[in-house]
Amino acid sequence: MTDTFDAGWLALREPLDALARANAATEQAVAWARRRGGDALTVADLGAGTGSNLRFLAPRLPGPQRWRLIDQDGQLLADAVRRAVPPSGAIDIAQANLASLDPQALAAGHHLITASALFDLVSQRWCETLIAAIAKPGRALLAALTYDGRMVWQPALPDDALITDLVNRHQTRDKGFGAAMGPAASCLLAAAARAHGAAVTVAASDWRIGPANASLHAALLAMLADAAMEQSPADGARIDAWRAARLANVGSARLTVGHIDVFAAWSGQDAGGRGLASNSMSSPSR
Ligand SMILES: C[S@@+](CC[C@H](N)C(=O)[O-])C[C@H]1O[C@@H](n2cnc3c(N)ncnc32)[C@H](O)[C@@H]1O
Repeated sequence: MTDTFDAGWLALREPLDALARANAATEQAVAWARRRGGDALTVADLGAGTGSNLRFLAPRLPGPQRWRLIDQDGQLLADAVRRAVPPSGAIDIAQANLASLDPQALAAGHHLITASALFDLVSQRWCETLIAAIAKPGRALLAALTYDGRMVWQPALPDDALITDLVNRHQTRDKGFGAAMGPAASCLLAAAARAHGAAVTVAASDWRIGPANASLHAALLAMLADAAMEQSPADGARIDAWRAARLANVGSARLTVGHIDVFAAWSGQDAGGRGLASNSMSSPSR
């Protein structure tokens, strides 16, 4: 949910991400892959970073797989290759700016297009263009861990709401794709996929941060305070006081960060058209 992409932060979040993804969207993706049979499953991972999505999904997906990891950051991709536990197939990497790639070319040759912690950064236009390019029979999209705007601390502090509001507005700034969808991303993505005839599954993938995740919690607090400060320098004193109070109880407080996973699958003869496939929805529990 932040736009910090360094390898240390991605490593801190990976175990929480994996726990959060035990949900209906992952189950549906695995069931879809089992049903499809045939040739090796080809997967494109957009904004792959150090390969967390590959490490989570590849062991769960059946049979031979060929993965393409795409990211703008060559060092993160090199890390991904070093750490890859390859499925019975190949992995290749592409260092590229997703914002300037042709969506048709991005989707071409892949059965499954996936991304984790990416879609809140992209614009509605980019998302809709990508979905239009993916929408073909036999294809699917799994967008995991998209931040949805909810942050709930226990115990609560009076300025939690101020920080959440400032961060959520900061989330909609341009992250390289035009104005970002931010917390609305999963709703917009699911709506676009349905409009292009996909059967869509939506599931919560919230982070449950507790005392055992104090390092991640402290790092996240720093990012949240920085984003809030950038959004509203006039609230600087309140933000500093909030950061200090939150850091003081990071070893005992709990925090839920709302994320949503969306799985969309296209079947039938005209999945690029309107409403051909039936929608089976499981709503996020919230
Ligand atoms: C929050 S990180 C998530 C990384 C990884 N998917 C994970 O779950 O750990 C977002 C990733 O998207 C990549 N990214 C952001 N904007 C991009 C762009 N315009 N083109 C390519 N990659 C981009 C970043 O470099 C970063 O690796």
